[in-house]
Amino acid sequence: MVFQPQLRILISHDQIAKAVDRLAREIRTDYEDKQLLLIGVLKGSFVFMADLIRQLDLPLELEFVKACSYGARQESSGRVRLVQRLSTSIKGKDVLVIEDIVDTGITISFVLDYLRKKKPASLKLCALTDKPSRRRVPVCIDYLGFTLPNRFIVGYGLDLDERFRNLPDIYVVED
Ligand code: IMP
Ligand code: MG
Repeated sequence: MVFQPQLRILISHDQIAKAVDRLAREIRTDYEDKQLLLIGVLKGSFVFMADLIRQLDLPLELEFVKACSYGARQESSGRVRLVQRLSTSIKGKDVLVIEDIVDTGITISFVLDYLRKKKPASLKLCALTDKPSRRRVPVCIDYLGFTLPNRFIVGYGLDLDERFRNLPDIYVVED
């Protein structure tokens, strides 16, 4: 039988859309005359990124990296590797990394360290959600959608064992 966890709505699609609008406004102001390159961290960020870029009427380019952290279901193992790296140079570009969630911070710190070595002109982070109470590595989030309590969430790109990425709202998985 397929495991059916209880889901409770936490952030509605309307609230998400308003946050995406606000973030796009902030980003538009800051990158007006820059060479903006958005780098999405797969897979989780793809829904958020798709909505965000359609609110950014700026010349921009897109790239993706894919990070993989080994380990149990709802925990970062602390060991990260990139299973998809960049295929082009980012030297001299204004890079904005797009992430779905910053939890312990281990994954995004690894990604940011990797990108920093490639000498972009600037490197900033935009995250849809943040769980600061879980942090193990300090992370500076330049553009943030929502601060969350210490609960596991799914929907709007975020998964539990690859399920629920397609839900338009964000849900808490009840224990
Ligand atoms: P970190 O390395 O602990 O910051 O974990 C980041 C990654 O773990 C995210 O990119 C997600 O893929 C996953 N993750 C952490 N918390 C959640 C959650 O509440 N729901 C779904 N995925 C999560
Ligand atoms: Mg992710």
